[in-house]
Amino acid sequence: MDERPIDHYGASWKRTHRCGEIGARDEGKEVVLAGWVKRVRELGYLTFLDLWDRTGIVQLVTERDSGGLQTLFKSLRAEDVIACAGTVRMRPSDMINPHMKTGEIEIVASRIAVFNRSEVPPFAVTADVQANDDLRLRYRYLDLRREPLQRNIEMRHKLAQAARGFLSGEGFLEIETPMLVRRTPEGARDYLVPSRLQPGRFYALPQSPQLYKQILMVSGFDRYFQLARCLRDEDLRADRQPEHTQIDIEMSFVTEEDIFSVVERLMHEAFSRVLGAEIPIPFPRIDYGEAMNLYGSDKPDVRFGLEIRDCGNVFRECEFGIFRSILERGGTVRGISLEKGAAFSRREIADLETLVKASGAGGLVWIKLEASGVSSSISKFLTAANVAMLRSTFDLGAVPGLILLVGGDETAVVKALGELRLHLGRKYLLTGGEGYRFLWVNRFPLFVPSEAGGWEAAHHIFSMPFEEDLPLLASDPGKVRGHLYDLVCNGTELGSGSIRIHHRELQERLFAIIGISREEADRKFGFLLEAFQYGAPPHGGIALGLDRIAMIMFGGTTIRDFIAFPKTQSATSLMEGAPSEVEEQLLDDLHIRVKSEDLKPR
Ligand code: AMO
Repeated sequence: MDERPIDHYGASWKRTHRCGEIGARDEGKEVVLAGWVKRVRELGYLTFLDLWDRTGIVQLVTERDSGGLQTLFKSLRAEDVIACAGTVRMRPSDMINPHMKTGEIEIVASRIAVFNRSEVPPFAVTADVQANDDLRLRYRYLDLRREPLQRNIEMRHKLAQAARGFLSGEGFLEIETPMLVRRTPEGARDYLVPSRLQPGRFYALPQSPQLYKQILMVSGFDRYFQLARCLRDEDLRADRQPEHTQIDIEMSFVTEEDIFSVVERLMHEAFSRVLGAEIPIPFPRIDYGEAMNLYGSDKPDVRFGLEIRDCGNVFRECEFGIFRSILERGGTVRGISLEKGAAFSRREIADLETLVKASGAGGLVWIKLEASGVSSSISKFLTAANVAMLRSTFDLGAVPGLILLVGGDETAVVKALGELRLHLGRKYLLTGGEGYRFLWVNRFPLFVPSEAGGWEAAHHIFSMPFEEDLPLLASDPGKVRGHLYDLVCNGTELGSGSIRIHHRELQERLFAIIGISREEADRKFGFLLEAFQYGAPPHGGIALGLDRIAMIMFGGTTIRDFIAFPKTQSATSLMEGAPSEVEEQLLDDLHIRVKSEDLKPR
């Protein structure tokens, strides 16, 4: 380790420029720069040093060891933090680096200060990192110094600013809602915070500002938005974190159309400001029912076709007993076809069968149509007429192709084919030139069957049923459609919202359907129901997942790369070690005892 004392930062080291901001126009200027050392290399009597800050890299150079400067240069290692004063000069023409923003110039160093020497980092802080995810999260401050994450965080900032700017311009007010809230079930598990002043009572952290934004409508703030932090204790996936941010919106005296329009223009503005990309608006719309039938998903990826087709008419006529009896029992036989699949090996097809079985289907029937003839897992049952009907069902004409079929009850078939479609489409049909394919999915059912055999809200229980479906509330809740809508892009749900109920009586009827009694409703949502009795305007809104929009915008595969300090799969923060045990005294203050002896704070 170098014995020289570490320098203090003071006025004599005040930076004049940031590293990436110097160019040929600064030739001859005396400058002071500060940043992180990336690389030191020697070339004859010259020593070069690449200095980095968020704006870019600039090359420093020393020519001889005047006053020990060159020796000091040579002692520096990657990630040391220094400042350097020097003169900007043009590089000799054969040294110009056209790939570098500052590649035309270099700084001839006259003095340097070393503020902090870095330990050897656990991984090289370079764009293409070799380290595994856990190591990167453990040393997140180093990971964040890497170019892709620097870019992601900057873009996320621009996205947030674009949203704020656009919505403010449209007359929306940004209003913060509390983080310590009353527990109001919203689908996921709550994070709870014990009250010290009221033993045995708990706040919840908000899963979303849903009830507050509705109350704000009652208060007359007819255009609300917030970049809201939302906390949910749920199983994590690539597009799910325990803490996420929503661009949360609520409006009064609006229809679905008004909300679609605001969101479309917001997305248009954001993509244009952040990426310079023109996304076409308005976005296409598709019914939930149609989305499920065609794509087997309520968030279809429509960058490729590969639509699901019903083949019941073919298999009612075919000798293949399994499909026949499925159809006779009221089940369904559906499938997809892929031209490229005509070249698949048996092994590849077997892998597809494994995939559909994992998603709940009984099995996979395949039919390969090649110039040389037809081969199939059920070839002995297939007649020429069956094949001709299948060709026409899948619009295959005379071209070769692979037809993949699943039979069973509708929900399972649609789900399995939806997953198969996604797998095949993403693997074989995406070219990379599809861009952003937005769409609205709407007209969702208001209720879905609950595990306990009753009903639960498909989105949340504050959503307005279709007026013409109101009579079905009593007779057939499963058929009631709601004014619910999701914004989907490239197969990811980016946002979700609804027109809300603004009447106490209707809200209570819906609570009753999902098994919440009047007393329970009063206990849990009394404040909202009460507010509805004092002049609640018709209102509706939506929440867009900021992390997910950032991920889709920049072609990412996980929202973790767009959140500065994300959690792992087990909701742990590896950097600081959260969650952690706490001192017994703190628990005593909160009137809490940890149940298991093993889990007692140490
Ligand atoms: P919802 O629960 O559908 O609706 O959430 C809205 C949007 O927020 C994003 N999102 C998430 N992103 C990352 N990690 C998560 N765990 C996560 N959960 C949700 C998604 C989703 O589409 N209050 C309602 C909105 C409303 O009705 O206005 C709500 O929160 O992009």
